[in-house]
Amino acid sequence: MFKKLKIQLLTINAICLTIVILIIFLGIYYITLYEMNLQVSVVLNDIARNEETVSLIKGPSNNVKMVVSSSFFIKINKYGKVLGYSKNINIPKCDITNLKNTVLKKGIQYGNIKTGHLRFKFLKVPKKYGFIIAFIDNNMEINLYTYLIISFLFVGTISVILVIIISLYLANKAIVPVKTTLDKQNIFIADASHELRTPLAVLNSTLEIVVENKDKTVHSQMKWLNNIQSELFRMTKLIEDLLFLARVKKEEMPMSNFNISTTINNTYETFKVLTNKKNIELVFNIENEIIILGNEWRIIQLINIMLDNAIKHTPSNGKIEVCLLKHNNICELKIKDNGEGIPKEHIEKIFERFYRVDKSRSRSQGGTGLGLSIAQSIVDEHRGSINVLSTIGIGSEFHIMLPITF
Ligand SMILES: Nc1ncnc2c1ncn2[C@@H]1O[C@H](COP(=O)(O)OP(=O)(O)O)[C@@H](O)[C@H]1O
Ligand SMILES: [Mg+2]
Repeated sequence: MFKKLKIQLLTINAICLTIVILIIFLGIYYITLYEMNLQVSVVLNDIARNEETVSLIKGPSNNVKMVVSSSFFIKINKYGKVLGYSKNINIPKCDITNLKNTVLKKGIQYGNIKTGHLRFKFLKVPKKYGFIIAFIDNNMEINLYTYLIISFLFVGTISVILVIIISLYLANKAIVPVKTTLDKQNIFIADASHELRTPLAVLNSTLEIVVENKDKTVHSQMKWLNNIQSELFRMTKLIEDLLFLARVKKEEMPMSNFNISTTINNTYETFKVLTNKKNIELVFNIENEIIILGNEWRIIQLINIMLDNAIKHTPSNGKIEVCLLKHNNICELKIKDNGEGIPKEHIEKIFERFYRVDKSRSRSQGGTGLGLSIAQSIVDEHRGSINVLSTIGIGSEFHIMLPITF
């Protein structure tokens, strides 16, 4: 699959760059052609007007630009009889008549002619006595074009080879993030399937027990039925979390200014009930009137995830502290507990999907291992950051930095 993608990228890159090179080369070629023609017609006009041959062409700033090889003129009367020609002419008389006849036969004023190995550009201008035909040697021009084409072919071939090498390098580079994303997605699908398979297996075996005891009352099978219910609850939570993670990446979340101090303060009573149950002290230190740009619903979800974890990992008689402060354009939310702490080697990984320090314990507490991944994506959406400081046996401290506006 990646080989095919690489070939496609390589081909597209190579074609595009080759087209660009071709356009540049053709542009140079046609500009040179146009400029040459312009110069030649200026020289021919000069010869015809002054009845004098020139050997030099002057550039725009009166600098001598180039030497014109050979130029000459032939004067003829209205009936085509040769009246004279320039002194510098060095071709046989028969060729002169030939040239004149060919020009007359062509019936045009300006063009190219060829007699034998001689090639000229000519301009026929009417005069009082008849016509003057100015000629200029075309060989030099043709040689220049041939030289240009050969140079282009040579440079072009080298360029195309370079383009292919560069394209190969770029294609290899471009594929890395695609491959990483796909690998991550595959791992995610495998993990999600694995997570769903466990409750399904439990459901299956529990149901088998219930079915095997058909004659027993519902009441007597309550233990198994409760088991089924709690597994179904876990699966629903897992699917909801998975859907949330999928949605959070795709959907634009509506942002508005809201008072985060009030939002956090409003959650106090709910968590107080839960901490009271475990006899944990809950302290809220919230700086008032902090307004941030964000999504209030998701911030509530964030504090829910963080406090749910803190409560789960803090033993009875412990303490959880929630602080909210503002420095400059940053609002800092700190959730500190004096619970079990996180082993050093796990700290880097706890934000990964499905990662849990103690999988079976987390599972028995209804955890899916997606809480901190969701927290991370909510913080990312608010263009903030989340960090953790933790010491085993002393506690954990999560710092969430949210920009007030962005
Ligand atoms: N406050 C905390 N104290 C100790 N460990 C924590 C804390 N918060 C999170 N963790 C660890 O990080 C892991 C991942 O957390 P999370 O993504 O919320 O998953 P879950 O809570 O479903 O297990 C948890 O399993 C736990 O091991
Ligand atoms: Mg959690």
